[in-house]
Amino acid sequence: DTLIVVAVDGPAGSGKSSVSKAVAKKLGYAYLDSGAAYRAFAWYVVQRGIDVQDEPAVIRLLADFDYRIGTDPDGYAVFVGEHEVTQAIRDPEVTATVRYVSRVPEVRSHLVELFRRIIRSADAPGIVVEGRDITTVVAPDAPVRLLLTAEEHVRMGRRSAEITTQTASTVAEQLRSRDRADSRVVDFMNAADGVTTVDSTDLDFDQTVNAVIEVIHSHT
Ligand code: C5P
Repeated sequence: DTLIVVAVDGPAGSGKSSVSKAVAKKLGYAYLDSGAAYRAFAWYVVQRGIDVQDEPAVIRLLADFDYRIGTDPDGYAVFVGEHEVTQAIRDPEVTATVRYVSRVPEVRSHLVELFRRIIRSADAPGIVVEGRDITTVVAPDAPVRLLLTAEEHVRMGRRSAEITTQTASTVAEQLRSRDRADSRVVDFMNAADGVTTVDSTDLDFDQTVNAVIEVIHSHT
């Protein structure tokens, strides 16, 4: 049987990680969070004492970047070499610096190849892959391609409810600034040709999961 690839893109705070994970779990599919790899690479650059804005040095580190994950949506864990970085990659410092590495074309092409290898080796009937350029670059031929969106105030509200260590206005400003920076590199605010938009503005979590599963069923 052929592997069913479900490509999900969307902005920060759209709920795409939690929704994608829940969808994968319900369908018995594997799960790949591409943002976690960009975050882990940013963590690694900082950990190695390299200035994130020193592009040649950042590019040289790619060869040593030993990224390892399990694709089970339950207990998704991220390792760089022997370091478990599952929590560390969510730190505000990583969130603030990831844009400097994710904008570098060599970093992107290296990680795109990594994602394609992970997808090919998935040991499940399908895999849900989420990020910013999955529908357009990583898996443009996927049978199911989705853009998960929500109005900005809703995304801000959801994200600030998750992050309790910072004020709502700090979280909102950081989210807006990150989306602005990321949008200059890849367009994840508009659905590409053939990509189905799921707008979760007026949906709760379970309704969003069900809406995504409906789209998957109608395409497979
Ligand atoms: O999805 P998440 O917010 O964890 O992604 C972290 C960062 O990784 C994004 O802000 C973006 O800079 C980068 N990213 C990317 N392409 C992807 C996924 C994430 O550039 N497909």
